[in-house]
Amino acid sequence: SKGDPKAAESIVNQLCAGCHAVDGNSPAAANPKLAGLNAEYLNKQLNEFKSGARQSPVMSGMVASLSPQDMLNLAAYYSAQQPKPATAKDKELALAGQKIYRGGVQGAGVPACASCHGPQGQGIPAQFPRLAGQHGDYIYAQLEAFRLGNRANDAAKMMRSIATKMTDADMKAVAAYIEGL
Ligand code: HEM
Ligand code: HEM
Repeated sequence: SKGDPKAAESIVNQLCAGCHAVDGNSPAAANPKLAGLNAEYLNKQLNEFKSGARQSPVMSGMVASLSPQDMLNLAAYYSAQQPKPATAKDKELALAGQKIYRGGVQGAGVPACASCHGPQGQGIPAQFPRLAGQHGDYIYAQLEAFRLGNRANDAAKMMRSIATKMTDADMKAVAAYIEGL
């Protein structure tokens, strides 16, 4: 079955907009932007918050009352929202991050992020999420969660093996770059 964006509107307004905004361009750095992420990815994350495969005290409460069809509808809704153009705050750090994003970390076994997340960070449906313009703080927090194994759902295996090979400085740099993509 497919998601119906219209049918998600009342849940968006009551449950989600306070943190992720009605248009999915969440203003607060801790809350990820959802606009334009692919629907399959969003639906998968919601289901994993519900099953506990992806741990988040905040989000597990949010999805507790949602049905599988609600989650499909919400995924379709946020996927259809338009991401706002973004700029990097720290240009120098972003330049260092650009090297990692496009070429990986030579010698450390870190592959280019672009190979899975796309040259412009647009993602590759359905498995590889859009990263472009995402809050740097959120990106950094997720890389940490992958490294520590706190985000350990099945598809995250790829990211866990990558994040364990990255230094803190690598993570901060690539997050600064992604924020401006
Ligand atoms: C993460 C959807 C309500 C805070 C996420 C993600 C999705 C999502 C799909 C994962 C994004 C990604 O992987 O890029 C929703 C929907 C909501 C909702 C559909 C309404 C039903 C809220 C509310 C809050 C919130 C009300 C704040 C109180 C967060 C935070 C994360 C997150 C902090 C990051 C979790 C982490 O660290 O892994 N949300 N959300 N969300 N959401 Fe929500
Ligand atoms: C998810 C960053 C390289 C595959 C993510 C997320 C981040 C990220 C921050 C979470 C996005 C969100 O929560 O919205 C990066 C960076 C990379 C990199 C900085 C380069 C250093 C790669 C590569 C692959 C890959 C090379 C493929 C081999 C994935 C997959 C997910 C993901 C499958 C989704 C995991 C899930 O469903 O929970 N990546 N990535 N990434 N990445 Fe990467």
